[in-house]
Amino acid sequence: MSKKELRSRGWFGRSGKDGFIYRSWFKKQGIPQDELEGKPIIGICNTWSELTPCNSHFRELAEFVKRGIIEAGGFPVEFPVMSLGESLMKPTTMLYRNQVSIDVEESIRANPLDGVVLLCGCDKTTPALVMGACSVDIPTIVLSGGAMLTGKFKGKSISTSDLWLFSEANRSGKMSDQEMLAAEAGMCRSDGHCAVMGTASTMACMVESLGLSLPQNAAIPAPDAGRKIIAQLTGREIVKMVAEDRKPSDILKRNAFENAIRVNAAIGGSTNFVIHLIAIAGRVGVELSLQDMDTFSRSVPLMVNLQPSGKYFMEDLYYAGGLPAVIKAMLPLLNKDAITVNGKTVLENYSDSACYDADVISSLEEPFNEVSGIVVLHGNLCEKGAVIKPSAASKHLMNHTGKAVVFETIDDYKERIADPNLDIDENNIMVLKNVGLKGYPGMPEVGNMGLPPKLLEKGITDMVRISDGRMSGTGFGTVVLHVSPEAAIGGNLAFVENGDLITLNVTERKLYLHVSDEVLAARKKNFIPIDLGYMRGYTKQFLNHVLQPEEGADFDYLKGCSGSDIQRDSH
Ligand code: FES
Repeated sequence: MSKKELRSRGWFGRSGKDGFIYRSWFKKQGIPQDELEGKPIIGICNTWSELTPCNSHFRELAEFVKRGIIEAGGFPVEFPVMSLGESLMKPTTMLYRNQVSIDVEESIRANPLDGVVLLCGCDKTTPALVMGACSVDIPTIVLSGGAMLTGKFKGKSISTSDLWLFSEANRSGKMSDQEMLAAEAGMCRSDGHCAVMGTASTMACMVESLGLSLPQNAAIPAPDAGRKIIAQLTGREIVKMVAEDRKPSDILKRNAFENAIRVNAAIGGSTNFVIHLIAIAGRVGVELSLQDMDTFSRSVPLMVNLQPSGKYFMEDLYYAGGLPAVIKAMLPLLNKDAITVNGKTVLENYSDSACYDADVISSLEEPFNEVSGIVVLHGNLCEKGAVIKPSAASKHLMNHTGKAVVFETIDDYKERIADPNLDIDENNIMVLKNVGLKGYPGMPEVGNMGLPPKLLEKGITDMVRISDGRMSGTGFGTVVLHVSPEAAIGGNLAFVENGDLITLNVTERKLYLHVSDEVLAARKKNFIPIDLGYMRGYTKQFLNHVLQPEEGADFDYLKGCSGSDIQRDSH
């Protein structure tokens, strides 16, 4: 079937004691001999977990993938990997993304697999699985779990982005605890991940725009019958991919990454996209810089009217034509000859797609918003860069100078933010330190820190906020994120003091601290790195090896691909 011998023959095609052991224990699951005589063995890498509510329907989804694999002549084997539930895990799932990528990489390489289907959903499960699979580089296809149905509260459509509004309303006394309970019951009412263009949806769009999934994978809602159908088609497709030996390294060329950046700009995707895409590029050896995020999204307007940059939900995107309709409209800007999982080019896959609702998916000529993408900032406050998402920011704050109000840690912020005596007004710039990869550790999504209650009561809804942390893809505001180098390793962010003047100029891509080099140098002399206390195990490994956000926050020793060969192959 395959042009080259199946990798799994290195197990099941062996004679002697080793072949006996490989086959005999496998057969205890009720498998006849002929199943092991030349059928491609397809792994289904499953992030199902009841602790990852967004992925809780994945066991059922896997059954449809298996149908497709069997129909196409393959043999499916489902296996678990560590799952990352965004809503439950502490201190932050980002701490564990690289750990999961190791789990996936080693699970694939160590086992008799000829191809793999990655079942991804909640935010970090997608980049973690793709990163791990890329470092092995056997035929791989992604199946996303799909977004949940739009939430409902008091007759209105809601989803995760509203959580931030509800929280501010509750803190300022405009929404009662009782109403909060009713809203929470209406928010998540079906299988699937967050229903806005948050990080999970951004990641689903990322894999489709990279060519790693079948067309339409990104937007079909989790409870829609179409999700089961695409699961079955994905199962069929991976068997073909094995026959044609189409691997991630054949698909993930530089042109695919450029497409993904442009699509992310058009959909108003999450800032987390930056870190994850750079990490994936690092696994396949494609040079991709932070600056590329700005360069390739500059000419792209915001075409998709979805929360948090607009008003609609993932369900609406699907009914309007899904990501294929967006890609079709963007074809003049994309590398149309990029190859995708089904062996077809982007042009072949998407030239017949159609848009059914121009209010949800606009055109390049008449976009929903001229402002899109991820802007990369430079300046003495972020010598290796920082990012802001202009489509989710306030126009009047995009070019703003103000005095810093500094919070040294997230605990310091929590202690003082509600203090009526906090010296702060809406013209100040809130600065939060030590929420980066090494400072927290794990870079939590706290960058869009809530405003002081006394300003909320005045009706203030946004302020400039700067940190070395991340922001949920569902969040919004004039929020500068991923400041690098982070405060904990002595980046200039560490030396900002209350009252320092800071200028944010999004038009000129500048983030500037109005403190002379001499004064900064003097402050640096007194730098004391944050003490995280006793660290052992995985956290210690993370602190020793994690790279800064502009390098994808991968571990230094995980960059690149080791291939699928196993160095020692006797049992
Ligand atoms: Fe899982 Fe939002 S909590 S995608």
